Amino acid sequence: MTSGRQFDNLLVTGGCGFIGSNLIHYLLKKSGFQGKIINLDKLTYAGNPLNLKGLEKEFPGRYFFVRADICDLEALDKIFTQYEVDAVCHLAAESHVDRSIKKPAEFIFTNIVGTFSLLEISRSRSPFSLFHHVSTDEVYGSLGPEGLFRETTPYHPNSPYSASKASSDHLVRAYHETYGLPVTVSNCSNNYGPYQFPEKLIPLMILNGAEGKPLPVYGDGKNVRDWLYVEDHCNAIWTIMRKGRTGETYNIGGNSEVENLAVVNAICSILDQAITPSRSCRELITFVKDRPGHDWRYAIDFSKLNKELGWSPAESFTTGLEKTVKWYLANSEWTKSVKSGEYLKWIEEHYGK
Ligand code: NAD
Ligand code: DAU
Repeated sequence: MTSGRQFDNLLVTGGCGFIGSNLIHYLLKKSGFQGKIINLDKLTYAGNPLNLKGLEKEFPGRYFFVRADICDLEALDKIFTQYEVDAVCHLAAESHVDRSIKKPAEFIFTNIVGTFSLLEISRSRSPFSLFHHVSTDEVYGSLGPEGLFRETTPYHPNSPYSASKASSDHLVRAYHETYGLPVTVSNCSNNYGPYQFPEKLIPLMILNGAEGKPLPVYGDGKNVRDWLYVEDHCNAIWTIMRKGRTGETYNIGGNSEVENLAVVNAICSILDQAITPSRSCRELITFVKDRPGHDWRYAIDFSKLNKELGWSPAESFTTGLEKTVKWYLANSEWTKSVKSGEYLKWIEEHYGK
């Protein structure tokens, strides 16, 4: 670690998920962090220890995995004591909007009660340096054709997922105001990159396209998202954790607003070149029924993070997407195990049900 806050024993929640696993790779290999990382994860369908294969051996005494539920106060208490946790980077969540529409209950337990439980244990610790909460731009609702989400934009969540994340953001802020817990919060846009579960737009389209399966585009495909390459997000989280002002929120964006249909077309162009299929991948695009309450547009103003802490994304959407498609094509062992569900059997064999 070059400057800013120091942490000895950093608890990362949800470290077996998409962003969490990228963050752990980043912290151990690229950030200069010299402390211990304790990865706490329940291993839901979205948690895959294969994302972190080999790290316990590669970083003995520095990387630990513990299977636990963030709603379980007793388990949290034991883990915080055993590892002398002095900082938390909280990512564990139910994260998929479509699932929250079909079955919201788990989103309320994990995202709200789980965050509350972690805050409760954190405020009972001393010394305790920081609770960083990883949140989403979806708490701000939906934009029309103009404008950007700022840290001061009023909350207006539209799905059970975003409402549960908004609620957790409020709890984190309240623990700072009421109990003086040192916290920082980041709200970021859509991530993409290696190890993302193929229920989200980009990995779903890559894997379906590579197999010649339909590419389901919701509605007319004109909804807009701002795309952030996951390693840029990890770098931003680490920058905020070290140097961000306590009690503050920072927006993180990728400077890459793209319509969904254009995202799918861009993936098709890369796939057509990489695997030269008999017909263009674009012919697989299928317009399907729209998501209920589908937010129209997200776009982020990250000038606070840029001006205060000097952060900006390194990847453009073109360079990041090219890297991402190549990663999925090159990592067929991972994609096969995820698509077939073999990773779930592996988890059961190693960690039980
Ligand atoms: P993910 O779904 O890939 O991973 C979530 C992880 O949390 C999994 O490993 C899962 O096993 C774990 N988990 C779920 N419930 C748990 C519980 N009760 N106890 C312990 N662990 C549990 O999610 P992601 O895409 O990596 O997102 C990580 C965080 O970033 C989330 O908080 C999400 O809201 C936020 N976020 C994600 C994006 C994005 O584009 N993916 C954008 C903005 C913010
Ligand atoms: O903005 C940040 C959020 O981005 C995170 O907080 C969420 O955890 C993350 O899942 C993501 O939410 P989205 O709903 O924007 O991501 P998703 O990949 O599900 O969808 C991206 C866009 O693509 C959205 O407009 C819906 C559309 N879509 C999605 C899928 C899965 C399709 O058109 N077809 C699809 O099959």
